[in-house]
Amino acid sequence: MVLSSSIGLALLVIIFFALSLNPLEARGTFSRLAGKPPQRTAAGGICASSVHIYGYKCEEHYVVTQDGYILNMQRIPQGRAGAGDGVKRQPVLIQHGILVDGMSWLLNPADQNLPLILADQGFDVWMGNTRGTRFSRRHKNLSPNQRAFWNWTWDELVTFDLPAMFDYIHRLTGQKIHYLGHSLGTLIGFASFSEKGLVDKLRSVAMLSPIAYLSHMTTVLGDIAAKTFLAEATAILGWAEFNPKSGLVGELIKAICHEAGIDCYDLLSVITGKNCCLNASTIDIFLANEPQSTSTKNMIHLAQTVRDKQLRKYNYGSSIHNMKHYGQATPPAYNISAIPHDLPLFFSYGGLDYLADVTDVEYLLDQFKFHDIDKMNVQFVKHYAHADFIMGVTAKDVVYNQVVTFFKRQA
Ligand SMILES: *[C@@H]1O[C@H](CO)[C@@H](O)[C@H](O)[C@H]1NC(C)=O
Ligand SMILES: *[C@@H]1O[C@H](CO)[C@@H](O)[C@H](O)[C@H]1NC(C)=O
Ligand SMILES: *[C@@H]1O[C@H](CO)[C@@H](O)[C@H](O)[C@H]1NC(C)=O
Repeated sequence: MVLSSSIGLALLVIIFFALSLNPLEARGTFSRLAGKPPQRTAAGGICASSVHIYGYKCEEHYVVTQDGYILNMQRIPQGRAGAGDGVKRQPVLIQHGILVDGMSWLLNPADQNLPLILADQGFDVWMGNTRGTRFSRRHKNLSPNQRAFWNWTWDELVTFDLPAMFDYIHRLTGQKIHYLGHSLGTLIGFASFSEKGLVDKLRSVAMLSPIAYLSHMTTVLGDIAAKTFLAEATAILGWAEFNPKSGLVGELIKAICHEAGIDCYDLLSVITGKNCCLNASTIDIFLANEPQSTSTKNMIHLAQTVRDKQLRKYNYGSSIHNMKHYGQATPPAYNISAIPHDLPLFFSYGGLDYLADVTDVEYLLDQFKFHDIDKMNVQFVKHYAHADFIMGVTAKDVVYNQVVTFFKRQA
């Protein structure tokens, strides 16, 4: 399978999604942070650095997946007031997007952060950190220095990471779980729930910036697509860790920008959309902490998701290899319409989000046309782009309060 320009585009887009607040180091991180006081980092863990400081209880948990990865989770068991002790709080699992970790939900002042808002509203809040991110880089018998550690895509997040987290929370609380995802966190949720593996442990689902189909991103950047070159990306990086902070990826980005004749600084809003409501202090904390690593294989799988107009497992590139892995010539598809029709769903998507493009989200929503109508809740936020949903200063009023209301109705 020849790597098409749209794969290159996808890679470009995804890189810039991660770096969306910081397109190029030269004009991004260093110049931006130069002369500023040191930013809060997650040294000592996410609870210590980003939850305890606001006066909330927080526990670090470790969950082992069936394929041996040791994942870090944070639990905020109660609100700041400590009210509701003895009350059975319903668990919520919050799942971050690609190339960031759980801390991405905790970058704003306390009263604007989703996990803390949910805790204050009476929920037992759990945050996931997918394999490869800084606190989930351990494995029973592999090290991140080994290629085998990075031999996975979002298929494995569906098959292993989500079930491990669900089982753990369910075993500890004895309760069904509310799931909330952003971006890649929505994609793995859709894929997982379509296979019905977790739905017996699931109470309801909220999807912010939902992605499952990505093919319309290309229309925005069609002319850049023709000039990108993923082949070089894979040649440079190989099939290993994809670390956006490494020099290699930085070089790759510079090369892409140069080749495409574009100003990477401006590309920020060209690609993620024009985020309306980000706080400059929050961006500084973001830059001091993100992006996080993923696997190059995962990036390639995401690029395939852009190219294919359907949600499928990783494509090994030839019918022979697919046959070997799947027993069929093409990768098996995830069938989103197979998500149980009575599962309570909340969607929120933005009019200016170039990753969860409106056309793609509407196509996704169309897959739910047979869903029980009273279980479907859809919010469209005209002025929001991708990052506004995790760190917009208005997100509490615009989105999170609706999420809280939705979750409370599913008691
Ligand atoms: C932006 O963040 C800073 C630092 O956390 C905070 O003091 C300020 O109030 C925030 N601004 C808004 C509009 O929320
Ligand atoms: C990667 O994992 C696949 C199964 O998912 C396996 O067939 C393959 O041998 C593995 N490759 C490496 C280099 O570990
Ligand atoms: C997807 O699931 C729906 C609902 O279960 C079913 O009607 C449809 O035939 C499935 N599609 C495929 C391609 O399997």
